[in-house]
Amino acid sequence: MDLQLASFKDLDRINEIERYTNENPWSFKNFESSLHAGNSSIVLKIENEIIGYAFFSVAATDSHLLNITVSKDHQRNGYGKKILEQVVFQSKVLGATVIFLEVRVSNDKAINFYESFGFKRDAIRYNYYEGDPREDALLMSKQAL
Ligand SMILES: CC(C)(COP(=O)(O)OP(=O)(O)OC[C@H]1O[C@@H](n2cnc3c(N)ncnc32)[C@H](O)[C@@H]1OP(=O)(O)O)[C@@H](O)C(=O)NCCC(=O)NCCS
Repeated sequence: MDLQLASFKDLDRINEIERYTNENPWSFKNFESSLHAGNSSIVLKIENEIIGYAFFSVAATDSHLLNITVSKDHQRNGYGKKILEQVVFQSKVLGATVIFLEVRVSNDKAINFYESFGFKRDAIRYNYYEGDPREDALLMSKQAL
C-alpha cells in the first residue's frame, strides 16, 4: 500500500472511481480545478492501482477536507482511515490546527466514518447542496493534534 500526491495523470482513474462510487460525484473538471488551485491531495494505491483519494485545502491554520473517497469495492477495509490519517498529518505539516468538512445529512456512513475518527458535529448549514430538493450539510471539525 502506497500513499502519494495526486497528479494530473491520475485524474482519469480518480474520475472513474468517483462516478462509480459517489452518488453526487465531482466532475473531472472539479478535480482538475482542485489541482490547478494548488489544493493538497493524496492517492492510496494497492499494487500500483489507485483505490482511494482525498483532496483538501490548507489556508493559514484551517484545513478543509473537500473530498475523500474509497472505491466501492474496497470500502470497510480501513483504507479511508489511512487516507484521513494522512490528511491530518499533511495538514499539520502545512500549519493547520483544525480540520473542517461538510457532509450531506443523509450520508450516514460518511458521518459514522468521521465520528469514528474523532470529528465532532458543529452545525447544520441549511440547503447547502444543490439539487431538487436541496440538501442540508452537517459541518464537522476535528483538532489536528
Ligand atoms: C466514507 C468512506 C471514505 C469510508 O471509507 P472506508 O475505507 O470504507 O472506511 P474505513 O474502512 O477506514 O472505516 C473506518 C471506520 O469508519 C466507520 N465506517 C466506515 N464505513 C461505514 C459504514 N458503511 N457504516 C458505518 N460505519 C462505517 C466504521 O467505524 C469503520 O471502522 P470499522 O470498520 O472498524 O467498524 C467511504 O465509505 C466512501 O468512499 N464513501 C463514498 C464517498 C463519500 O461519501 N465520501 C464522504 C463525502 S463527505
